[in-house]
Amino acid sequence: MNAEVPRPRVLSGMRPTGALHLGHFHGALKNWVRLQATHDCFFFVADWHALTGEAQTPGQLEHHVYDMVVDWLAAGLDPEQCTLFIQSRMPEHAELFTLLAMSTPVSWLERVPGYKDQDTPSYGLLGYPLLQAADILIYRAQQVPVGEDQAAHVEITREVARRFNHQYGNTFVEPQALLSETARLPGLDGRKMSKSLGNGISMREAPQAVAEKLRTMPTDPQRVRRGDCGEPARCPVWPLHEVYTDEATRMQLASGCRSARIGCLDCKQPLIEAIQKEQQPWRERAEEWLTDPKRVHWILELGTERARAVARKTLREVRAAIGLGY
Ligand code: TRP
Ligand code: SF4
Repeated sequence: MNAEVPRPRVLSGMRPTGALHLGHFHGALKNWVRLQATHDCFFFVADWHALTGEAQTPGQLEHHVYDMVVDWLAAGLDPEQCTLFIQSRMPEHAELFTLLAMSTPVSWLERVPGYKDQDTPSYGLLGYPLLQAADILIYRAQQVPVGEDQAAHVEITREVARRFNHQYGNTFVEPQALLSETARLPGLDGRKMSKSLGNGISMREAPQAVAEKLRTMPTDPQRVRRGDCGEPARCPVWPLHEVYTDEATRMQLASGCRSARIGCLDCKQPLIEAIQKEQQPWRERAEEWLTDPKRVHWILELGTERARAVARKTLREVRAAIGLGY
């Protein structure tokens, strides 16, 4: 790549839910790892956003933050290629949030999915999308890799940017959502893999536990006995093959299933092996980081300082544009 041409800026964040599962990897993290080679990437822990959810003890939150960052590093995020930081260490985001709040109509925020379903939503939950807009705009990110569930938030970010630029002059970049292409990974019960449903396989799950979880995973409900013919389209295991298994093998497995030539354990075996193989380098990298937790802190410290330099510069320009440059 030509060193003269600046790399497009990318920003994304995740709420700290603790150790990540395969759904997080295939839905988001894999994309982040790819982007770091070609883009100027900023990835952060959205710990303020996490406070709008279920209450956690302070100790839990800290664990969740560090477990998640270890998984980021295990997946191959390289602190020399991308900038990793923690939202709550960046009061600059809060300042921009405040300034944007002064002119953002409440009706824009109420529209966001999730808000209306709550009986007693907090003020913070109402502001959730605007805080996210501040997270993105303060880095002038051009691209925001997120899942489809976040598309509405990026859309509001664009509207906020457009409105500000119109009112005060060109200050912000209108970001684009980079929607991840991977189909949702099903969990062990066939529903979306999710921490709260307890149906996941974590990135650092022990190899034996992976085998056990997959072997006991339900299959086509109409395939009760080994001799019954099955149908992959009805089977919760099948979408995993769509992520992990090459097309030729998939054709063989599908026809073996439909004719009852193979049993479900035969069908699951290549999947078990593929997942275990995928996890191997993650486990090795994670072990290294876990033996030296100070290094993880240090990486985040460094990332926070890099992020702060960018955020400060934007804020100075925002203050000046609004007329607060005194
Ligand atoms: N709301 C995002 C999530 O729940 C996390 C997030 C916060 C985020 N700020 C962001 C994602 C900015 C992308 C850009 O996953
Ligand atoms: Fe599912 Fe495979 Fe069993 Fe068919 S053989 S029901 S696809 S696990």
